[in-house]
Amino acid sequence: MKKDLLKFIPEFNLIKDSDLKEKVLKVWNIALAAGGWQVSDLQRMPFTLLIDPCPCNMIEHIRGVVNVSIGAAKALQSVHKGKVKINEDYLIAGALLHDIGKLVEYKEENGKFIQSNLGKLVRHPVSGVGLCYSQEIPEEIMHIIASHSWEGDRSKRTPEAIIVHHADFTNFEQFK
Ligand SMILES: [Fe+2]
Repeated sequence: MKKDLLKFIPEFNLIKDSDLKEKVLKVWNIALAAGGWQVSDLQRMPFTLLIDPCPCNMIEHIRGVVNVSIGAAKALQSVHKGKVKINEDYLIAGALLHDIGKLVEYKEENGKFIQSNLGKLVRHPVSGVGLCYSQEIPEEIMHIIASHSWEGDRSKRTPEAIIVHHADFTNFEQFK
């Protein structure tokens, strides 16, 4: 599973802290198993159920959010120098994990992706944090997951969470 994940989403390798990279991959494995998915299912899985038919799969969405986040961070750091402090490992890990809860928010019925019962009751920013909790994912990364969507609008987002939030909507609205 890990080999397949790295093949489909090479951005895992951008996490410099090898211990953190392993933890992030472990959370992906746990979420895939919890949802009953294979890595190959991610190629068919829509990144959102709000656009039907959805032209962007989960892998493309995650890669899009990671890469827009990195690009935004680089731009901010080059213009604002030391005034904007960004932890790149937290940023990349947060972008890779921001929608991890969707793997339990969805189920497949007759070839169609629909909301699971858990998905109806507990949205993915919350279930995503739940999936991370046992793996000692840093709190700063759980914050990015918890606050990436509108749930975070009332909280004070960290610099990394601000970037992932906008990178997510930047990717989402291209297909709306
Ligand atoms: Fe997303």
